[in-house]
Amino acid sequence: MKLIKGGRIIDPANLVDKIADILIDDSGKISAIGDFEANASYETVIDANGCIVAPGFIDVHVHFRDPGLTYKEDITTGAAAAAAGGYTTVICMANTKPPVDSVDTLTELVAREKELPIHVLQTANVTMGMGGKELTDMEALLAAGAVGFTDDGVPIADEKLLVKALAKCRELDVPISLHEEDPALMFSAGVNKGAVSDKLGLGGAPDTAEYVLAARDVMLNSKIGAKLDIQHISSGVTVETLRFAKQMGINVYGEVTPQHLAATEELVLSKGSLARVNPPLRTEADRQSLIKGLADGTIDMIATDHAPHSSEEKSKPVSQAPSGMIGLETALGLVITSVVRTGQVPIDTVIKALTVNPAGLYKLDAGTLSAGAEADIVIFDPEEKWTVPETFRSKATNSPFIGMELYGRVKTTLCGGRVVYQDL
Ligand code: DOR
Repeated sequence: MKLIKGGRIIDPANLVDKIADILIDDSGKISAIGDFEANASYETVIDANGCIVAPGFIDVHVHFRDPGLTYKEDITTGAAAAAAGGYTTVICMANTKPPVDSVDTLTELVAREKELPIHVLQTANVTMGMGGKELTDMEALLAAGAVGFTDDGVPIADEKLLVKALAKCRELDVPISLHEEDPALMFSAGVNKGAVSDKLGLGGAPDTAEYVLAARDVMLNSKIGAKLDIQHISSGVTVETLRFAKQMGINVYGEVTPQHLAATEELVLSKGSLARVNPPLRTEADRQSLIKGLADGTIDMIATDHAPHSSEEKSKPVSQAPSGMIGLETALGLVITSVVRTGQVPIDTVIKALTVNPAGLYKLDAGTLSAGAEADIVIFDPEEKWTVPETFRSKATNSPFIGMELYGRVKTTLCGGRVVYQDL
C-alpha cells in the first residue's frame, strides 16, 4: 500500500476539492480517500503538504515522431517528458514517417507503446499518406488499436471527402481531430499575419485561414454529429465560432495549447524560429479570447501539441525552420503562471481541461480519483517557482520558454500506482 498524505485533492469529475489522504492498493488502484495515519505499514508515504493532488493529466495532442523521425523524439523519451509534466495518458499524432495510415504501421507502433510506463495511445490518419485524396480504412485501423483519426499538421481541403470521414467517425463513434488552416488563405506558415510578419518581411498566416476552415467544418458536422475536435485553437474568432456551434447543439470540442494561452506573436521577435508554430501565436486580443473561452468552458481541453524538432532544424531562419515547439514539461507552469495566477481561470477549470474533459471525449477509463480507479495521479506545488532549463527529458530542446520563470512545479507522477516521475 502507498499513502499520499496531506495534499489538496482536486478531482473535478467528482466535484472534490479538499485536504485529504489517498490510499493506493497493491494492484495500483485507488482504494480510498480520507484521513489515514502515516505509519510503518505503508510501503511508501508521499508527503503532499502544500501540494495539489489531481488525476494524472491527459494530453490529446502530442508528436512523438515514432516511427521514422526519431532523431527528434521517440516514444520512450516522449513518455519520459510526459511523466515529468504530470501526464499519465497521451495521444500521439499520426504525421510520422511513414504516417500511420496502415494497419501494419499502427500495429507495430501500438505494441511498442503498450510497454511504456505511462499510457501512450495512438491516432491514425484520416487520409492515405495525409494526402487528402483517399480515406484510410478507419474500421480496420480502429480494430487495430487507433483511438481517433487525424491528419494533424495538414488541413483537409476536400469537403466531400471530409463529409465522408465525419460520417464514418460518427458511425464508429470515434473522435476526428482537425488542423484548421485553409491553404488558400495562407501566405506563409508559422507566424501570424500582422505587425510581426510585416516587420520580418514574411507573408504570414492570417487568422481568417483558421476560423474560416473551422466554421466550414463545424457546419459540415452539424447534420452528421461526429465527435469533432478543433485542434490548437489560436484565434479569438475561432473561439466565437466554437461557442456558436455549441449553442446550436453541434457536436464539437476545442483544444488550446499552453503556448497560445501564454504568449503572443511578439515572441517571434525575441525567439525567432523557436516561436514559429502552426497555427501561429497571435495577438493579445486573441490570447484574451482563448483565456475567456477556457474559463467559460467553450474550450474543453488544454493540449500541448508537443512538437519536437532538432536544434539543427530550429537553428534555421524563421522562414525556413519547421513549425512547432515542445510543451509537455512546461505546460503546467505556463498555464498556472499565465492564466491561474492572474485570476482569470480557476485551477479546477484548468484541471478539468487536463483530465476529465479529454477522458470524456476519448471515453478513457481515466481522469478521476474515484475509489477503484487506476492510481494515475499528479502531485504538484502550485506556488513553487522554477526556471525553465536548457535541457529536458524530451530529446528536443525547441522551447521558446527556456530561461523563463514559471510558477507551478510537478513533484511526483504516478501511473497505475507506480511512481513514474519524481522531482529531485
Ligand atoms: O507547429 C506545428 N508542428 N503544428 C502542427 O500542427 C504540426 C506540428 C509538427 O508536427 O511539427
